[in-house]
Amino acid sequence: MKIAVLPGDGIGTEIVAQAVRVLNALELPLEMETALVGGAAYEAHGHPLPESTLKLAQQADAVLFGAVGDWKYDKLDRPLRPEQAILGLRKNLGLFANFRPAICYEQLVDASSLKPELISGLDILIIRELTGDIYFGQPRGRRTATDGHFPGSEEAFDTMRYSRPEIERIAHVAFQAARKRSKRVTSVDKANVLETFQFWKDVVTEVGKEYPDVALDHMYVDNAAMQLVKEPKRFDVVVTGNMFGDILSDEASMLTGSIGMLPSASLNSKGQGLYEPSHGSAPDIAGKGIANPLATILSAAMMLRFSLNHEADAQRIEAAVQAVLAQGLRTADIYSAGTTRVSTLEMGDAVIKALK
Ligand code: IPM
Ligand code: MG
Repeated sequence: MKIAVLPGDGIGTEIVAQAVRVLNALELPLEMETALVGGAAYEAHGHPLPESTLKLAQQADAVLFGAVGDWKYDKLDRPLRPEQAILGLRKNLGLFANFRPAICYEQLVDASSLKPELISGLDILIIRELTGDIYFGQPRGRRTATDGHFPGSEEAFDTMRYSRPEIERIAHVAFQAARKRSKRVTSVDKANVLETFQFWKDVVTEVGKEYPDVALDHMYVDNAAMQLVKEPKRFDVVVTGNMFGDILSDEASMLTGSIGMLPSASLNSKGQGLYEPSHGSAPDIAGKGIANPLATILSAAMMLRFSLNHEADAQRIEAAVQAVLAQGLRTADIYSAGTTRVSTLEMGDAVIKALK
């Protein structure tokens, strides 16, 4: 089993290092190869997604990804910015289905800014379409053109678009995921204003007819943002487009106490996947050894489950994470009075110890 390990920028290197140690501790026949991506790759090779990194990812069974980005690259032309690396990997590997679970761990109920009774037992699965929408439509602006075609342009735009097959395939993923859970799907759109999302709503409704056992409802994205903090437990599977999914998944993650806890999986139609924490590169805390590695460790568990067919080992990791939380070990982001504060490395050590 071949894994491409792409730590990236900021805290990416620190947290991925811990996930790799946990994977090694399982003593499985895993072949891991590391490559540069994002700002780190730009510094070394002049491009955030060098050909060699893309090739490594394409040839692997799975990609373990950290995070990319740093404010110091904000002035670069758009195609050279670190974020283009993750967008390029998603597009090139066809990783259209992004799973972002938001699960509230009982031990972390107090770390949330919401009242305990609102979030205790919370278990939402956000399914974000990842290779379409306004992220990949035609852009125009000062920083998009590298050929000098639009210099000094005094307007900018991006194009929101979805095709029927793109909506159909993500809708099928959502309904099938719901069948394994509580059989409810909420499709989030902005059909009251945007043609793209009226089409989205129509196509999801059509696909839903093939799943009479799954209840489908529709919600406008602004209302969904409100309901997520008002009554989050009303949701089970949420399916939405690329941009709304980006925003709502950050919001949902904070319900659980910390974005530092949430893993994600991005899958293509062949079962290949990219696994990354839902959070970003956090350059403000990089290099301090205080980042929470659990989201990345839990992403490695998702990798074992979805791409490598090792369900038992995935569960072993998840149980080890539960165990360290039960022991009261906390990185800074989830620390509260009465618990024990640990570093990134110590958290990795504790998970490995709990595995054994
Ligand atoms: C995410 C991130 C990315 C996105 C950025 C880094 C391009 O915010 O994975 O949610 O917007 O998709
Ligand atoms: Mg995001």
